[in-house]
Amino acid sequence: YVIGVDLGTSAVKILLVNQQGEVTQEVSKSYPLIQERVGYSEQNPHDWVEQTVAGLSEVLTDFRGNPEEIEGISFSGQMHGLVLLDENNEVLRNAILWNDTRTTKECEEINDRVGKERLLDITKNPALEGFTLPKILWVKNHEPKIFEQAKAFVLPKDYVRLKLTGQLHMEYSDAAGTLLLNVAEKKWSKEICDILGINLEICPPLVGSHENVGMLTAAIAEATGLSAVTKVFAGGADNACGAIGSGILEDGKTLASTGTSGVVLSYEANDDKDFEGKVHFFNHAAPEVFYTMGVTLAAGYSLSWFKDTFAKDIGFEALLEDIETVPIGSNGLIFTPYIVGERTPHVDANIRGSFIGMDASHERKHFTRAVLEGITFSLNESVEIFRDNGKNITTIVSIGGGAKNESWLQMQADIFNACIVKLQSEQGPGMGAAMLAAYGCGWFDSLKDCAAEFLKEDKVYQPIQQNVEKYKGLFGIYKEIYGRTSELYQQLMDYRN
Ligand code: XUL
Repeated sequence: YVIGVDLGTSAVKILLVNQQGEVTQEVSKSYPLIQERVGYSEQNPHDWVEQTVAGLSEVLTDFRGNPEEIEGISFSGQMHGLVLLDENNEVLRNAILWNDTRTTKECEEINDRVGKERLLDITKNPALEGFTLPKILWVKNHEPKIFEQAKAFVLPKDYVRLKLTGQLHMEYSDAAGTLLLNVAEKKWSKEICDILGINLEICPPLVGSHENVGMLTAAIAEATGLSAVTKVFAGGADNACGAIGSGILEDGKTLASTGTSGVVLSYEANDDKDFEGKVHFFNHAAPEVFYTMGVTLAAGYSLSWFKDTFAKDIGFEALLEDIETVPIGSNGLIFTPYIVGERTPHVDANIRGSFIGMDASHERKHFTRAVLEGITFSLNESVEIFRDNGKNITTIVSIGGGAKNESWLQMQADIFNACIVKLQSEQGPGMGAAMLAAYGCGWFDSLKDCAAEFLKEDKVYQPIQQNVEKYKGLFGIYKEIYGRTSELYQQLMDYRN
């Protein structure tokens, strides 16, 4: 067996996976978001560790075999979140997460001092509020006393792994999202650190995602019931792991994932393509390759916000039950999912969402469908960037919330105008983490071999031409909304707390 731990934004999900790739146990433990001001999004790293340990111990309590049969454990984690550590590797403040957008000024500072072109040369990405470097600068600028004590920074799953093993590391796929890594050379950028007055020493040692980084501490083995012989592998960024867990391991493969955020991600065999920073370009968690990705900040989050606010007492299934009775276009209602700002393609922390076209005839189901359509339109903006840059996208593997509902899967086929593949066990990042452990343990010669054994297609949704045409028209209107409302949202900023 191997274990995949996926440290998400709303919960940690733990999968126990056997040598055939079957998930034999699954546990999920949630923790809160801390949002003290508009644009702020933090979590307490202790919560991650506590819930991971509690989840692992639940898995082990129900496990029938000998704990030594669990050969490896690896991790997938929410990207970009800043965890600052003191000289004893203890946290100095709450983690500032990927969906926190307080750092617009710090992004300007990076552009002014490093230069947009140079930054793109080194990191392959532009300065965005969500990435880690602007968060480091924010702490430096606003909490200098804390910054002075910082001896290292890590990303969320690296912190959990540190607490489980006592070993401090970061791996390339997550390091790529810090804006401090030379992505092509796989080295920390001394140049960026020097220009911005950051001590290179705070950047942890780098390792590959499938590398064995040590063993569990005796205290953790005891607290979880895991064996001290279980090997710990570095793991990867959640989107990189989601890609592995969906078989995005060769040219031409594309993924649409709807977790809290939504991403459209495409495999890149080498670093020679230039998307001019319009989509993110990161190291894959598969050795020596890359991926490009567009991000919708609030994908699943838009749906859970909608449910929590307007339909708290019913489950997701009940909420989505009647959307197929609503016509394409939700009878003239369009939603833009910018409820925490937007990344791709607008890169605008201040834009906010809209429902446009509300009519007295609309019922809750129209709003629900409009939310799903709005999320999918937003993802389609990323698909469009890929196609405009010469990518031929005909098939997309769908994972996450978007793959749990037939109507939403068909909607993706119709809006993306591509075949949508649903996998039998659509576990995405957690499965990717387990696959890194399986590969690290030497069960397979390559991650591709592991994917061939572990991942099976369930169903393919074909685009229906008549729907594709309707959605083309609606998507055109959707795209107009950003340009026509951004000025108004800018003015409304003064009225937000
Ligand atoms: C990617 C991003 C999100 C998080 C979600 O750039 O910010 O997808 O990784 O966990």
